Amino acid sequence: MSAQPRVSPAPSAKPAPGTGAPTRPKVTLSTLAGKKALGEPVVMVTAYDYPSAQVAEAAGVDMVLVGDSAAMTVLGYPSTVPVSMDEMIMLASAARRGLSTPLLVGDLPFGSYEASNELAVASAQRFVKEAGCDAVKLERGGSSIERARAIVEAGIPVMGHVGLTPQSATSLGGYRSQGRTAERALEVIEDAVALEEAGCFSIVFEAIPSEVTDLAMPRLEIPIIGIGAGPAADGQVLVFHDLLGIYDGHAARFVKRYGRVREAMIEGVSAYADDVRERRYPAPEHGYEMSPDEAERLEALLSGRSG
Ligand code: KIV
Repeated sequence: MSAQPRVSPAPSAKPAPGTGAPTRPKVTLSTLAGKKALGEPVVMVTAYDYPSAQVAEAAGVDMVLVGDSAAMTVLGYPSTVPVSMDEMIMLASAARRGLSTPLLVGDLPFGSYEASNELAVASAQRFVKEAGCDAVKLERGGSSIERARAIVEAGIPVMGHVGLTPQSATSLGGYRSQGRTAERALEVIEDAVALEEAGCFSIVFEAIPSEVTDLAMPRLEIPIIGIGAGPAADGQVLVFHDLLGIYDGHAARFVKRYGRVREAMIEGVSAYADDVRERRYPAPEHGYEMSPDEAERLEALLSGRSG
């Protein structure tokens, strides 16, 4: 492996580790607010490990979310619910090592914040202290509004998440779009306003009709990041494995595929398997050599032992 610069927590601009990407200033909460003021779209993507974070860095995104979608995309769980705080910390730490510039957000997993403000603050602190995250995200309105306020008061920036909130998919009637009735849409907008009042710096709107986003936007000052919430949001987020075509599970309607990486990976591993089976790999250039003298001496040593 080649030597690569280490990621440091310094807020100064520096090159993306191992990517050769040009230096750009570190994204802060003020950068995001500035983008909103200028009407510049904010780009967010998920990443869950060192190589995916390096890709996000090289692509120049503004925010990286270590989403609990990792439960399904990288850990193979059937939903986001089972992933633990320890697992999320491990993934977020790896992502941190691949990033210099984007704002890094750790997604509080199910069960790590709902029970009390103390639990929520302790979990958020783990993301910051152990994994080097800049901020955390939590789902829903309701009791999450109070949890968001407590985490913000503890000095950690919080991102909200309303609409389809996968951690509570069962009570929402499954993985379905939200806010299609006026009453439910009102709840989504009221939750968003309450999360902003609690101090959130941004909110994810997931799987809601564009009309709801259009009506919510004038009521909110913080950047709104949409995923299946229409074009009016201040920015967009997609799951890394969905957008690159790495994950072969069901894709929601809002997913646009920008690559077929899974197919490329299967092709590569199959070609390797064929080469091994046909003895085409390894070829001479993949091996190491011993000088004829040393080989001769070895043979002599071996025959001395067996004789
Ligand atoms: O976990 C996740 O990836 C998310 C995004 C879809 C916003 O919450």
